[in-house]
Amino acid sequence: MTVTPRTVLAGLALAGVAGLAYATVEARQYTLRRVTVPVLPRGQRPLRVLHLSDLHLTPSQRDKVAWVRGLAELEPDLVVDTGDNMAHPEVLPTLLEALDPFLGIPGAFVMGSNDYYAPVPKNPARYLYDDARSLRTPPRQLPAAELAAALRDAGWRDLTNRRDVVTADGRDLALVGVDDPHLNRDVFPDGPDAHDGPDLRLGVTHAPYRRTLDAMHADGNDLVLAGHTHGGQLCVPGWGALTTNSDLDTRRAKGLHGWPGARPDEPRGGGSTWLHVSAGLGTSPYAPVRFACRPEATLLTLVER
Ligand SMILES: [Fe+2]
Repeated sequence: MTVTPRTVLAGLALAGVAGLAYATVEARQYTLRRVTVPVLPRGQRPLRVLHLSDLHLTPSQRDKVAWVRGLAELEPDLVVDTGDNMAHPEVLPTLLEALDPFLGIPGAFVMGSNDYYAPVPKNPARYLYDDARSLRTPPRQLPAAELAAALRDAGWRDLTNRRDVVTADGRDLALVGVDDPHLNRDVFPDGPDAHDGPDLRLGVTHAPYRRTLDAMHADGNDLVLAGHTHGGQLCVPGWGALTTNSDLDTRRAKGLHGWPGARPDEPRGGGSTWLHVSAGLGTSPYAPVRFACRPEATLLTLVER
């Protein structure tokens, strides 16, 4: 066959269509990631923390609802939800159905931009360079207040610019969280700490902006959980994320790291805070694609240092 510019263009177009088709399939390949974090005081038995993030749920996503509900088989001691739960103004009953198996156990949450505002149509590639720009058009409100009230009624701790405490499997946890830094709604709560001598200090934020991670590190937290990045969402195999949609470096777009420096488990130096960034479970309904970055929830098994 003679290679002409026309055949090259046709080949590229075909590869693009195939890649896009694959990326819509990968966006539904929900995956459980398991990590172990040596962060508890000496002599303690393990504590299981289920980290959920970025569900971006719509009422028709029954497969996602069933998958999330199935995570209850893990019997976590604590559930932490780092926001961006909703992608439709009428999804709250469906979301509460997904979370229902966890509402009887200790939990904590913060909100993300996609709990306050419904997504708007945009070029999928825009995720790569400026998501916040889409918020300049007047967005539709989502039922964030109703969601927060339902979670608080279930006993989950609301960490929207506040501190709280929770007991999980007999362990006392001091919690601190902020409202979404991506929307500049974050106000780090002043001390003093609500708990004296906890077993663990846990920081929670939706978007892992550096100012928030610095504040949580300076506050003495042992572990910080964050979402928002979608792990880069469209990644390059063998390379990784191209963006974190924040000022966090792409190396830490997802997974277990240290803040401000390296951790697992830093043989040189010390004193960094453990940082876990979830790649999350969803996408915008207007950009339902993931590539080399499956949707995920994480079971963190906390063990003694
Ligand atoms: Fe998100």
